[in-house]
Amino acid sequence: MSNVKTNFTKRVLSGVQPTGGLHLGNYLGAIKNFVPLQEKYESLFCVVDLHAITTWQDPGDLTQKKCEVAAAFIASGIDPNRSIIFNQSSVPEHTQLSWVLNCVARMGWLNRMTQFKDKAGKNKEKVSVGLFSYPVLMAADILIYKATHVPVGEDQKQHLELARDIVLKFNNDFKKEFFPLPEPIILKKAARIMSLRDATKKMSKSDTSEFSRISLMDSNDEIDKKIKKAKTDALPIPSSIELLESMPEAKNLITIYSACEDEDFEISFDKYREKNFSELKVDLTEVLINKIGPIRDEMKKLISDKKYLLGILNNGSEKAKNIASHVLKEVYDVTGLN
Ligand code: TYM
Repeated sequence: MSNVKTNFTKRVLSGVQPTGGLHLGNYLGAIKNFVPLQEKYESLFCVVDLHAITTWQDPGDLTQKKCEVAAAFIASGIDPNRSIIFNQSSVPEHTQLSWVLNCVARMGWLNRMTQFKDKAGKNKEKVSVGLFSYPVLMAADILIYKATHVPVGEDQKQHLELARDIVLKFNNDFKKEFFPLPEPIILKKAARIMSLRDATKKMSKSDTSEFSRISLMDSNDEIDKKIKKAKTDALPIPSSIELLESMPEAKNLITIYSACEDEDFEISFDKYREKNFSELKVDLTEVLINKIGPIRDEMKKLISDKKYLLGILNNGSEKAKNIASHVLKEVYDVTGLN
């Protein structure tokens, strides 16, 4: 947590989309890092269903997918009695603030968002307006709680920068230090977990190949098969980290190993320098099964009790709303809407 001086109470917020199939990247890059933060700071963890519907979601599946994210939070160690676990659309203040922020953000800023360009591809004219203004809603998620710290994977960094630009312009336009400048917390160790089939691409839910990712719901057998099939180089693991830079698949597997083991990358690399990939893969499979296995088992247990999970989300939404409604009132006051 940075020591940037701020007059604002330190508060943590992050979000995960209920688009199904949470994977190792979501866990190592984000969810795992939420857990220690809740020990020290008031923390809110949001199931961002409004972000999910920026691309088509089957209405019949959405509740189940929301429960899956809530289950992943709890199974990973987020304590619902300590942190606020809630659902984005249950707190309408997010969308109300989002509209105000849409009027602060500039088209040029959004036009620069690389994630939009990647997702829209050649289809720019046909994707939803929501997909384009998605980062503004994300800024609203953070600012409706005046959150100061946002733990995310590296792919969200540009969105956080946009949120900061929105804060600077809002505070300047209304001549107040109204919103805090939110700080991203991006842990270097697992900032970007890459695909197991092509380590130039990030591990992602939308990759068509199941073998590109380890899902949090994978059985031990599936983990074993996927690691066996993970792309590697013909040469053994090199003798130095500099040489490893040109071997993205090898680097990715050692990154995953070090993040699961909570040890420095250099230490993990040292164990496998000049060894064959088969040795690394055997150990990595074991480490993954030890890490993901208990989370998967707990998630399965929780998912079978939908009533419990929906209760947690409803209770969290009440608490979140308590904070959000105050901030929205203040926003309406300073902008003259009240
Ligand atoms: P989402 O749902 O795509 O991903 C959830 C979290 O997982 C991280 N992540 C990764 N980290 C490392 N390696 C990967 N391969 C990888 N893939 C995903 C993401 O960085 C993210 O932290 N826009 C956000 C959700 C959001 C949000 C927010 C986050 C909405 N509002 C407010 C923070 C604050 C998203 O789509 O995450």
